[in-house]
Amino acid sequence: MLIRITFLFICICIIIFGLSLLWPVIVKGAPWTPTPRETVRKMLKLANVTQDDTVVDLGSGDGRIIIMAAKEFGAKAIGIEVDPFRIMWSRWNVQRNGMQEKVQVVKGNFFDLDLSGATVVTVFQRIGTNNRLKAKLTSELNPGTRIVSYIHLFEGWSPIKAVEDSKIYLYIV
Ligand SMILES: C[S@@+](CC[C@H](N)C(=O)[O-])C[C@H]1O[C@@H](n2cnc3c(N)ncnc32)[C@H](O)[C@@H]1O
Repeated sequence: MLIRITFLFICICIIIFGLSLLWPVIVKGAPWTPTPRETVRKMLKLANVTQDDTVVDLGSGDGRIIIMAAKEFGAKAIGIEVDPFRIMWSRWNVQRNGMQEKVQVVKGNFFDLDLSGATVVTVFQRIGTNNRLKAKLTSELNPGTRIVSYIHLFEGWSPIKAVEDSKIYLYIV
């Protein structure tokens, strides 16, 4: 009996892990890799996030960026995530941190959702995804919206500020 339960548990874990890798590939985004928390803090500081901001994280993973934006910087924050497992996990993290009033995790593909309400957009995706996002960001975001990218640049755009040793790049629409 114990062996059967263990086998079932391992199968469920493999399926969840497989789905987590599959979803981002289907929508041509980056699979889950968390941004180190100290880097998240630097990103939000670089974008000068305040309580007047609405921070939107494109591919919000376990919710660490949106939770910190709300908890430490007082902003309203929205995470968009496609992976069902990360959505459950991040919603639980939001609750655990008592941030339900300020933070929302939206299930979906960020290419299909309207981003016009954002005043700050955070991105940790692949270089190709960043490039595919450029047209959407320029057409939907209001002038003055800050975009902070971790690791990858947006090719052809010049960041107005950068923290090179942490690979953080700030752009303004
Ligand atoms: C590199 S992780 C970054 C997670 C989080 N933003 C952080 O910095 O810790 C990328 C995340 O984007 C999600 N993702 C990839 N493509 C997506 C898409 N088109 N729409 C929504 N989420 C996407 C993945 O499931 C993954 O959780």
